[in-house]
Amino acid sequence: SLVSSTPLLQAARANGYAVTAFNVHTLEMLQAVVEAATELNAPVILQSTMGTVKHLGADYIVTAARVAASKTHVPVALHLDHCHEFEMIVQCIRAGYTSIMIDASMKPFADNVADTKRVVELAMAIGINVEAELGKVGGVEDDITVEDHEATLADPEECERFVAATGVATLAPAIGTAHGIYKGVPNIDFDRIGRIASRVGVPLVLHGGSGIPEEQVKRAIALGMAKMNVATELRIVFSDAIKKVFADNPAVDDPRHYLKPAKDALREAAKEKIRMCGAVGRA
Ligand code: 13P
Ligand code: ZN
Ligand code: NA
Repeated sequence: SLVSSTPLLQAARANGYAVTAFNVHTLEMLQAVVEAATELNAPVILQSTMGTVKHLGADYIVTAARVAASKTHVPVALHLDHCHEFEMIVQCIRAGYTSIMIDASMKPFADNVADTKRVVELAMAIGINVEAELGKVGGVEDDITVEDHEATLADPEECERFVAATGVATLAPAIGTAHGIYKGVPNIDFDRIGRIASRVGVPLVLHGGSGIPEEQVKRAIALGMAKMNVATELRIVFSDAIKKVFADNPAVDDPRHYLKPAKDALREAAKEKIRMCGAVGRA
């Protein structure tokens, strides 16, 4: 069955690795991620954005994730990514999600605290992990777009006050990464990660995992990042494999013939990220 991500992430922070969280949009993507984690004996987090919940339905996602979890020995959590609607949070908890992100990072600090606290009271009482964001991660994720000039980094002292005031189990502080593929190398404020980690004991979450060079990922994890989110790279790998099938043979009309290579490519890409996070053998 699906497990809460809280103990997985606490173990990761305590032992200097990160659990990789993958955004999935189809059954094949979900299967490929769990297969990758199984092959590497790594804990894993499946996640869906609000858009994917609307696209597939929370019940279909939960059912598929539960079946995948029942077929593997590695712990699997199911997380709702970047949700800013209380109604959808309740809907996903009722459907069986084991982890929730309340993203009120676009609101003033006091409102972010209030919204997060409301979700913490609901979710953590029943053993469901809660993640919140401070500062604003740049780039585009689902229906959330943050222009470069609007992206703001999290303040370490505010992070400490935020965790104390909300009791949130995991914190995603904006530290210079962005959603999507970077133009060049991301400008990560490593010093800030260290200052936040020294004030906040809960596992920290690295958003914008696509396109971060391995050496930067490792440095961020060594400083306290215990979960890395990967979305864009998986979408690209999956779509590119499908495009290649059609480029080679435009007459293909059996979905299995283009989804199988896409699934295989995604499994390899996911394994690469799990290795980068140091999560191999941690299940
Ligand atoms: P990327 O799309 O850059 O991988 O970011 C993923 C993410 O942070 C999902 O919340
Ligand atoms: Zn994100
Ligand atoms: Na990114």
